[in-house]
Amino acid sequence: VKPNAYGKDLAFVHHDGFSAFAERAGRETTRFLRRNGVPSGLVVDVGCGTGVFAKRLLAAGYGVFGLDLSPSMVRLARRTAPRARFAVGSFADAALPRCDAAIAMGEVVGYLLDARASRRLGAFFTRVFEALRPGGLLVFDFLAPLPSSPRAWTRHEAGDGWDVVAEISEDTRRARLTRRIVTFRRAGRRWRRTSEIHRVKLWRREEISALLSAAGFESAIGGSYGSFRLPHGHLVAVARKLPSAGSRNLR
Ligand SMILES: C[S@@+](CC[C@H](N)C(=O)[O-])C[C@H]1O[C@@H](n2cnc3c(N)ncnc32)[C@H](O)[C@@H]1O
Repeated sequence: VKPNAYGKDLAFVHHDGFSAFAERAGRETTRFLRRNGVPSGLVVDVGCGTGVFAKRLLAAGYGVFGLDLSPSMVRLARRTAPRARFAVGSFADAALPRCDAAIAMGEVVGYLLDARASRRLGAFFTRVFEALRPGGLLVFDFLAPLPSSPRAWTRHEAGDGWDVVAEISEDTRRARLTRRIVTFRRAGRRWRRTSEIHRVKLWRREEISALLSAAGFESAIGGSYGSFRLPHGHLVAVARKLPSAGSRNLR
């Protein structure tokens, strides 16, 4: 497990500059839960980041247990959503409480910050299945390989007191996306520079479906959180632990 992933400055930048994703996906997911038999109860927010979705869930009346590998992310999450419970840990081995839904938003399941993550994804789905009450839901998005790879590009974003540059390269043959991220953050009259490398496994749709069925779930994979369509290559999986032998279709 890389202890410096989403360190203090990148966690700050994520919150200040990149919360819009969790806001929009969170709004749609909260609606989806309500419409699909989870109007209340405990939601496990896996890879909770800075707590943006947790805050929305609390406002909608849910209880929240947030889990994230990065202590800096969890520190910010505690500030954003003080009434939620948070823990620092990896989905590869963390204990999960009994819950009504589990959500992993923002490519969490593909991250290789914990080297065991991809090997243990199937076992993670099984642990979620066991933790969920019958009728409970697992929802997450992931990055899938695009046919045009290998590709490389640069992304630059700036905000008040920060600047971030990411060199991104995609290697479909190895099913990997690599982001080399350099963050500059103003500290008094100086700018502090930190760098991180994030590797993400590109999961194929069929691989995810197979792991979900092996864990016991009924699932569907699409390209959006409700009306929030994700960019090409990003997919959203919705999985249900059936309430009984008879199935209830996802809406
Ligand atoms: C792109 S961020 C998304 C954060 C948040 N869900 C959001 O939408 O803003 C990915 C998050 O996954 C977390 N993460 C990556 N690998 C993880 C693992 N194995 N276990 C728990 N969290 C992990 C990272 O620390 C980071 O906070």
